[in-house]
Amino acid sequence: MTHDRLLIIDFGSQVTQLIARRLRELNVYCEIHPYQNVTDALLKDIAPRAVILSGGPDSVTRDGSPRAPEAVFTMGVPILGICYGQQVMMQQLGGKVVSGEGTAEFGRAFVRPEGDAIALLDGWFTEGQEQVWMSHGDHVSALAPGFAVYGTSPNAPYAITADLARNFFAVQFHPEVHHTPRGKDLFKNFIRLAGFKGDWTMGAYRAEAIAKIRQQVGDKKVICGLSGGVDSSVAAVLIHEAIGDNLTCVFVDHGLLRQNEAAEVVAMFRDNYNIPLIHADESDLFLGALEGMSDPEEKRKTIGKLFIDVFQKYANQIDGAEFLAQGTLYPDVIESVSFSGGPSVTIKSHHNVGGLPEKMGLKLVEPLRELFKDEVRALGHELGLPPHFIGRHPFPGPGLAIRCPGQITREKLEILRKADAVYIDQIRKHGLYDDIWQAFVAILPVRTVGVMGDGRTYDYACALRAVTSVDGMTADYYPFTHEFLGETATRIINEVKGINRVTYDITSKPPGTIEWE
Ligand code: XMP
Repeated sequence: MTHDRLLIIDFGSQVTQLIARRLRELNVYCEIHPYQNVTDALLKDIAPRAVILSGGPDSVTRDGSPRAPEAVFTMGVPILGICYGQQVMMQQLGGKVVSGEGTAEFGRAFVRPEGDAIALLDGWFTEGQEQVWMSHGDHVSALAPGFAVYGTSPNAPYAITADLARNFFAVQFHPEVHHTPRGKDLFKNFIRLAGFKGDWTMGAYRAEAIAKIRQQVGDKKVICGLSGGVDSSVAAVLIHEAIGDNLTCVFVDHGLLRQNEAAEVVAMFRDNYNIPLIHADESDLFLGALEGMSDPEEKRKTIGKLFIDVFQKYANQIDGAEFLAQGTLYPDVIESVSFSGGPSVTIKSHHNVGGLPEKMGLKLVEPLRELFKDEVRALGHELGLPPHFIGRHPFPGPGLAIRCPGQITREKLEILRKADAVYIDQIRKHGLYDDIWQAFVAILPVRTVGVMGDGRTYDYACALRAVTSVDGMTADYYPFTHEFLGETATRIINEVKGINRVTYDITSKPPGTIEWE
C-alpha cells in the first residue's frame, strides 16, 4: 500500500478507536497496535509518517506500567502523546509525572494559551480559551528536556506541551472525543505539520483493493456468503469488480428473513449486478430443526451449525474454489489492550461463519479488513450500490428466530413479517429511519384478549423495538412521540391479522440487549 501511514500505539484507552476515526475522517490512513506488539520489525514494516500515543488506564508511576518502545522516539517522525501517552512521553524522555492529591481532573475543562503560538494550535484560542475533555488521575509535574508549555488548565499545568525541535507534542486532554469541540483541528494541524497528503479516499481505496484482490486470488475461484447486509454486499460487489465471474455468491435463505428480503437480495445481485448467485432455499430444513425449540441458546446454536453445513454443501458444488470472502471490518481486527484479563461471559452465541475456512480448507479474502463501518458505506456508494440498501439497519444472522421468543412457527413468522413491514414503513414515512440504529418488531409468546368491532379477539401481542447506538455495544431506546406510537399501533392492529396488542420496549442496553434473545 502506498499511502502515508500513521501509527497509533494503544495503551488501552476506551476511546483509542476514536483517534483512528478522527484521522480517517481527515483522509489519513492509520493503524492501531497495542503497545506490547510494537516491535522494531513492525515499525519498519509500517514506516509511519507520524505516531500517536493513546490514553490508557494505568499510571506511569506504577512499576511495570506500559511504556512506548524506545525506538519510536528516535525515528525522527512527529509524535503526539494523549493523556497517558503524554505522561509516558514525559517519563521516558526525562520529565516527571506525579500521582496524588490535586492531580486528577475529570470532565470538561478550559485550557488557556501560554507562550508562543505554535502550528499545532492553529485556529485554537480564538475565544481566549478552549473547551477540552479531561480524564486523568496523574499529571506531569516536570517537563522533559526540550519541551515547553503552550496551554494550561486549572489541574493540568502542562495541558499542552511540545518540543518543537523534534516535533514532539503531548497533551493532557482527549482531543479525539466529542467534548473537545475543536479536537479535530488539533489533529488536522498535527497531520499537516507531519506532511500527510490526505491520500486516504474511498475512490483510491477501491482501485487499490481491486488490485490487491487480483494479486491475492489470481485466476482462482472465490465463494462469498451473502447475507443481504451491507458488509457482505459491499465485499461481493468489490470482489466481482476485481475477478468477475470467478466469484460465486451463496445466499442461504433459512426461512427467517424479513418480508421480501430474499427476493430483493436475489434481484439485486443476480439481476442488477450479474453476479453468479446460488439461492439456497433451505427454509424447510431450518424451520424443521427449530420445531418445538424455545431455548434461545439452543436456537442460536442450531441455526449456526446448520448454516455451516448448508453453506458447505453449496460451496462444494463450485469446482475449484480456493478462497472464501468475508466482510470482516477493522473493529473486529483491532486487538485492543485488555486490562481486565480473563474470558468475558457469553451473553449470546453470535452467529457467524468463523468456523468455515478451517473446516473447508479455504483461504480468506477480506477486502474490508481495514475499514470502519461508515467507510464501508462510503465504499458502497462509490461502487454504486443503492443508497437505501447501504443505509439498512443491521440484521442478525439468526434472523427472525431471535425476534420470536418461545417456539417458532410458520404462522408466527408470517405475522411477524407483516407487522415488521408496517412498522418500518411507518418509520420511513416519518423520516426517522436514518436517526435509528435498529428497529424491529418481536412477536411475543402470549395471546391476549381484545375487542374489534363487536367481536372478541384472542391474538398475539407484539413489542416494537427501536434503539440509538454507535456500535451495538450499548444502546438507548428511541424517544418516539406518543402520536407516532399511537398511529403505528393502530396500523399494525388494523393491517396485521393475528396481532391485537402492541407494546413499546423502552429498555436500554445494558441492562437489556437489543434483540429479545
Ligand atoms: P444484542 O442483542 O446482543 O445485539 O444487543 C447487538 C447487535 O448485534 C446484532 N446481533 C447479531 N448479529 N449475528 C449477527 O450477525 C448474531 O448472532 C447476532 N445477534 C445479535 C443485533 O441485531 C444488534 O445489532
